[in-house]
Amino acid sequence: MKIPKRLQPLVDDGLVDQVISQLMSGKEATVYMVQCGQEIRCAKVYKEANQRSFKKAAQYQEGRKSRNSRRARAMEKGSKYGRDQQESAWQHAEVDALFTLADANVRVPTPYGCFDGVLLMELITDANGDVAPRLNDVELSQAQAIRDHATVMQDIVRMLCAGLVHGDLSEFNVLVDDQGPVIIDLPQAVNAAANNNAKAMLQRDVNNMTQYYGQFAPVLLASQYAEEIWSLYEKGKLVADTQLTGHFDAPTHSADVDSVLDEIRAAFDEEQERLERIRDAAEI
Ligand SMILES: Nc1ncnc2c1ncn2[C@@H]1O[C@H](COP(=O)(O)OP(=O)(O)OP(=O)(O)O)[C@@H](O)[C@H]1O
Ligand SMILES: [Mg+2]
Repeated sequence: MKIPKRLQPLVDDGLVDQVISQLMSGKEATVYMVQCGQEIRCAKVYKEANQRSFKKAAQYQEGRKSRNSRRARAMEKGSKYGRDQQESAWQHAEVDALFTLADANVRVPTPYGCFDGVLLMELITDANGDVAPRLNDVELSQAQAIRDHATVMQDIVRMLCAGLVHGDLSEFNVLVDDQGPVIIDLPQAVNAAANNNAKAMLQRDVNNMTQYYGQFAPVLLASQYAEEIWSLYEKGKLVADTQLTGHFDAPTHSADVDSVLDEIRAAFDEEQERLERIRDAAEI
């Protein structure tokens, strides 16, 4: 096809030889199938900031740090230079997350880099070599749903162990190839340790996936993976190959009200004695 304007710099630099077709145009990006040497790859062209929708919301940005303080100050000030830097940080967030996750053995498309606002990555294909369908478009047997749900839960654990929460995980952001689920669409991934919304986002991600697979395997609907994963993470006990059970026993011991009251009484008595000493001293 005719080369889209935003892909021209990659063609000029020899990163892309030909643009084969447009796969889709979404809220955040337009995605193309491109020829790079012998390989067919996927090119995700980010829309300009003013054409994008929700993902730049502050709750996702919290805890993201710029590695460069001049850049960080410019981004805070909102100057043209600052906005450009912010745009570039946004565009690189997805490729950074993909490199981190590929290293952590999470099934994601292999990234090749982000150039001029275009992410080049592996094209996920099905057994026939066609572009892989989204999970939303796949009919699953109960056994497949249980197996793929377990794979996604393990991927979520590995992601968290690598410090990230996807933040927008759903049947629309998972592709299915002959090996199983492949997680995509990560520009909004949040830093688990530095973002106060991380727990809520993890719960939403886990529950979205469980609800979806639960349509094919209702037995999944009673599971409590989000609580189990977060509680192990908080205790520092979550590792990449943690064997999850899907069960979570909420802490049952009730608060020890008596000893709290004893502490309050003791503090009150101590304060009374202190005031008495002050009064005595004043009377002398
Ligand atoms: N690596 C890939 N291999 C094959 N298809 C892909 C790949 N990456 C993206 N796609 C296709 O492009 C679509 C959009 O990609 P993605 O979800 O990353 O972008 P988006 O603009 O955030 O989309 P949306 O707004 O629909 O969430 C995917 O649903 C999928 O069909
Ligand atoms: Mg998407």
